[in-house]
Amino acid sequence: MNRDRFPALREGWARLDGPAGSQVVDSAIEAMADWMRSGSNANHGGQFKQAHETDELVESTRVACATLLGGSPEGVVFGPSFTALTMRFAATVLRSLSAGDEVVCTRLDHDSNVRPWVIAAERAGATVRFAEPVEGTLELPASAVEAVLSERTKWVAVTAASNAIGTVPDLVGIVAAAHAVGARVYVDAVHATPHRRNDLAALGADVIGCSAYKWFGPHVAMLCGRPEIMAEYHPDKLNPSPDESPDRWELGTLPFEALAGVRAAAEYMLDLDFEAVHAHEQSLLDSALAGLGAMDHVTLYGAAAERAPTLMFTVAGHHPTEVAKYLNEREIAVWDGNYYAWELERTLGLAPHGGIRAGFLHYNDASDAERLLSAVADLKPT
Ligand SMILES: Cc1ncc(COP(=O)(O)O)c(C=O)c1O
Repeated sequence: MNRDRFPALREGWARLDGPAGSQVVDSAIEAMADWMRSGSNANHGGQFKQAHETDELVESTRVACATLLGGSPEGVVFGPSFTALTMRFAATVLRSLSAGDEVVCTRLDHDSNVRPWVIAAERAGATVRFAEPVEGTLELPASAVEAVLSERTKWVAVTAASNAIGTVPDLVGIVAAAHAVGARVYVDAVHATPHRRNDLAALGADVIGCSAYKWFGPHVAMLCGRPEIMAEYHPDKLNPSPDESPDRWELGTLPFEALAGVRAAAEYMLDLDFEAVHAHEQSLLDSALAGLGAMDHVTLYGAAAERAPTLMFTVAGHHPTEVAKYLNEREIAVWDGNYYAWELERTLGLAPHGGIRAGFLHYNDASDAERLLSAVADLKPT
């Protein structure tokens, strides 16, 4: 779908590295160049025309991202990466915890939604409890989180989709269970966002975050929190910088040219027909799973009923890095290792080498899946 909107795809590779970063849509590329050429490039908060244009860029990008994530612009914070934003968020909110308070993380999450909470909890004297995915399917039902919730739980940090195996947890059930004990929920939608709408209001979550470079934009990340939650906390900041939320969460000068790209990518996302995206991605995933599943030298990990089109496998007798290098020779881009799904790699007993990950985005097509299958089939021992 829409392959002609992605100049980088003309190179002809099978780009199955989307979970590590998507290619950039043409309108986002143009928007960034246009912004830098325009003369509007100034700074935030000045008293002249170009500074007002910069203010308008920031505000309209907050609006576009809030619309995409089902929140309100007063709750949208930009930052360099989801990892950096989560470090800052966890360090800030956990300052209000006391010894004996608890935080729930999951073994399915990317480490950027685990370690910041573990580090901050240790400093606060709080305890982190882990929700375990179901053995075999690696699904994360609400019961997995309920098993580690208590009346001391203050925050639950959970992914909207695993970046390793695609599992989509039962977020609605998890949010309901967390709220029932008075805990707040922080959702990592970095992997999920290019595949499905994750609406803060519809989920009832408290904060949701993602990174535009996973959904066809530049390297900028954002949190979209309920405005009253973002306003409640006071992150470390410089004296002269704004003290109102959301601005007080942002450190230093924003990357305005990149925000122009984020706004254009968000507009592209808002125009996408996600039912069609889902149907297309699902057919690619189904054919890849069926093909790899039929190869007895391949082991697939996870079998969630609800999942993003991302799969992880190992090939008997081949180190994951060697497989990735071999696929590189065939112009197929995949990832090897743990892709920072560090807890999951350990849960699966795959440390330290991990596995191989291939992920589809809506711009992939059937020939990408076929190229992967035929290359991996050729690794069969003779
Ligand atoms: C699920 C998930 N969470 C978080 C991250 C980290 O995002 P960032 O690179 O913006 O820190 C990634 C990146 O791969 C991811 O896939």
